[in-house]
Amino acid sequence: MRYSNLIKTLGLSFVLLTTITSCDKDRNKPGYSYFPDMEQSQAYETYTESPVWANGRTNQAPPEGTVPREMIPFDFEKTDVNRKWAGQELANPYMGDASVKEEGKRLYDIYCLHCHGEIGDGKGHLYTSQKYLYLPADLNSEKIRTNPDGEIFHVITAGYGVMGAHGAQILPDERWKIVSYIRQELHSKADSIAAIPQPVTEEVTPETEKDKI
Ligand code: HEC
Repeated sequence: MRYSNLIKTLGLSFVLLTTITSCDKDRNKPGYSYFPDMEQSQAYETYTESPVWANGRTNQAPPEGTVPREMIPFDFEKTDVNRKWAGQELANPYMGDASVKEEGKRLYDIYCLHCHGEIGDGKGHLYTSQKYLYLPADLNSEKIRTNPDGEIFHVITAGYGVMGAHGAQILPDERWKIVSYIRQELHSKADSIAAIPQPVTEEVTPETEKDKI
């Protein structure tokens, strides 16, 4: 019994003692530091000096010829020959995969819609509002319909004519999804709109006007 009382008293005094001594009297001092190597990293920070390297820098340039992980280098230039070549060499990993249509549409709406338009006819808002004066290409043209996926991927990555390169903004995986969307949905969307009969407006000529009298 007395033994457990002693433990209780000791425990209580320990709690009291730590509470009192840990009170912050001087706010300008950080106080005691236990295990300072955990508080202050021993490793060199990225942009600091380092005695280990000959050039004295911690941050070293990557060895020549290496690429960052998950980056796929794009060796094709913005030329017609390279576009053809990309069409032969590159295969769409989502070919025929309808599950990427939705994501492809989302990406198309972000990166292409304002120029190429809702149905890809080139009448996007930038063009119709006359802020962009060059008519963007019709993505439902015979040329694009028969173009291999790799060529469209090339155009998005490296650009074409006056259209700028989008390789820096859109990940390769996302570019393929956009290509799939153009293939799987944009063309049929444009076709179904084209199939809606337009109201026939009678041409007014002096002859027809005469008939009405
Ligand atoms: C700033 C406006 C703009 C944006 C954004 C844009 N394009 Fe274009 N695109 C154009 C113009 C203009 C052309 C025609 C270039 C020419 O003929 O010189 C073109 C051409 C193309 C062509 C080639 C047509 C051909 O005849 O070979 C494809 C394919 C294409 N764009 C797809 C896309 C896709 C996909 C996106 C979205 C990732 C996109 N574009 C974003 C303006 C744009």
